[in-house]
This record gives sequence, C-alpha cells and structure tokens, in this order.
Amino acid sequence: MKNKVLSNTFSKIILIGEHSVVYGEPAIAIPFHGTSLEVSIKKCDKNHLTCKFFDGRLEETSEDLFGIKTLIEKFLEFYKIKEKICVKIDSDIPNERGMGSSAASSVGVARALFEYFEISHDSNDIMEWANISEKIIHGNPSGIDVNVVLHDKSIYYIKGQEIQLFPINLDAYLIIADTGIKGKTKEAVADVRKLVESDEIYENYVKELGILSQNAKKLIENNQPAKLGKIMNQAHNLLSKLSVSDDELDKMIDISRGNGALGAKLTGGGRGGCMIALAENIENANKIKDSLEKIGKNVWISSLKNEE
Ligand code: MEV
Repeated sequence: MKNKVLSNTFSKIILIGEHSVVYGEPAIAIPFHGTSLEVSIKKCDKNHLTCKFFDGRLEETSEDLFGIKTLIEKFLEFYKIKEKICVKIDSDIPNERGMGSSAASSVGVARALFEYFEISHDSNDIMEWANISEKIIHGNPSGIDVNVVLHDKSIYYIKGQEIQLFPINLDAYLIIADTGIKGKTKEAVADVRKLVESDEIYENYVKELGILSQNAKKLIENNQPAKLGKIMNQAHNLLSKLSVSDDELDKMIDISRGNGALGAKLTGGGRGGCMIALAENIENANKIKDSLEKIGKNVWISSLKNEE
C-alpha cells in the first residue's frame, strides 16, 4: 500500500456516432485535454469522499454519487480491505455535459484504488471496475466513454468489438462549446430506444448515422475536413430527428455555421450538454469561439492535427 496516489484522467468528445453506437453502429471519439480530473487517495480514520458536490462519509453520499460510492465499497469488499481511505476528486470537467465527466471519475477512481493498494491490474480490470459505476449512472452504456478515457487516445468504436485506436491527423480545429445546460443522457438514450422500437423510420436513422461514421473515418484518413464538416451537419440532422437536440444546441450550431464552420453538431447525449464545430484554420476557429462567447458560452479549441 502506498502513502498516497494521484490518478489523472481527461474528458472525451464524441466526434460522430453518439446514440447509434448503443445499437452496434460505429462511432469515433477523441480524448480532450482541455479539461481534466484528478483522484487522490490517502489513509483516513473513516471512508471519506470529497468532490465538488459532497464532502463527508462515503456511506452518506448523495444519490448522484451512488455510482462512485458503490464502486469504492465493492472494491474494498472484493479485496477484503479493512483500511479506511479518503478519496478526493478534483475536476474541471463540466458535469453532465456529454464531456465524459462520469467516465473520467469512474476510470480515475478505479485506477487510483488499484494503485493505492498496489494490486496488480491491467486496463481490462480498470474498465470492469469503472463499469460498475457507469452502469449505475447511465443504465446500459455502450462503453465508448470509458474506453476513450481509459486509453486516452482517439478510437473507432463498435460496441462489443475490440477497440480500434484511430490516430487523427486532420488539417482542422475542433471547437467545443457548452450550452451551460445539464444534459440528460440516460433519459435521452431511453427515449431514443422508445422511438427505435416504435417505427422502422427511426431504426433507419440509426443505421444512417452508422454509415456517416464509416464515411467520417475515411474522410479523416484522407484528410478531407470540408467533407467531414458536411457529414457532421448530416449527423446533427439525424440526431435532431431522434429527438436529442434542443433549441440552445440548435442556436449555437446555427451561429457556428453562420461564422464559417465547416460543420457542427451536438456531441454526447444531447438535450443540453455540448456541441462541436469544425473549422478549417485557427482564425476561423477563433471567430467561431468569439461568436459563441458573445452569447455567454464556455468554449474550447482543440487542434485535430498530429495526434500520436
Ligand atoms: C454518451 O456520451 C454517448 C451515448 O451514445 C450513450 C452511450 O454510448 O452509452 C449517448
């Protein structure tokens, strides 16, 4: 057992394929290093959890933190650990905004527990433990969030298949902007399911999203950002038909397109949360950023070039 451990994780952005990924269609996700999360563990008198929303005994955590609480308790029980610990989560990843804050905390806590107690492990073990919390938070997640956070690399992901690392080297910039409204991923995923089960037309939208992800992969490989932008617009249109966009996302997407974005769409669960836009150069990326900041949004820019 160590004196203290620190574990760092980052946020994620789904470039394309959210929601349809739940149905086995491919999706592309990238790690985003503009926001991050740190978990520290040290010895304590009682099991204790500290984060933005809570500071107290683990057994008294609020419902929102039930996933993390269960992960820690089950881990201690499984490895028959009697020692008490203080777990502290420091994060600047906006919460419930489709940026993977829950995956970042689940992976961060699972990894920190293994390291603190010096239990040998590999990435599959971390994933298994992180999923305990993720399943409580999201119901039945596709696994894309945990995978991209865990590997901290861009991935081409198909549920149930081995992940494919997918290095991106595109002459373009990604603008990420937060609506400031909490997304409702669990509810959105459940509502999409109702639609898909109600009428074939929605099932077809899901399949079309899958085709767009396959096309996006080829366009990225061939460094064709302008065409990728068009695909992003088409994906947003389909996601809107699946009822997961909202007025604020649509407004921000229109502003981005009006300021020269090659394309724009929601990212993550939708219904609040974040949107992304693609810009051909940094000047245009800054122009889009300024236009979104003018309406009071938090905005980040990330280069898509030369990812390792
Ligand atoms: C959430 O980040 C992505 C969704 O596709 C849900 C999932 O994949 O589990 C909406």
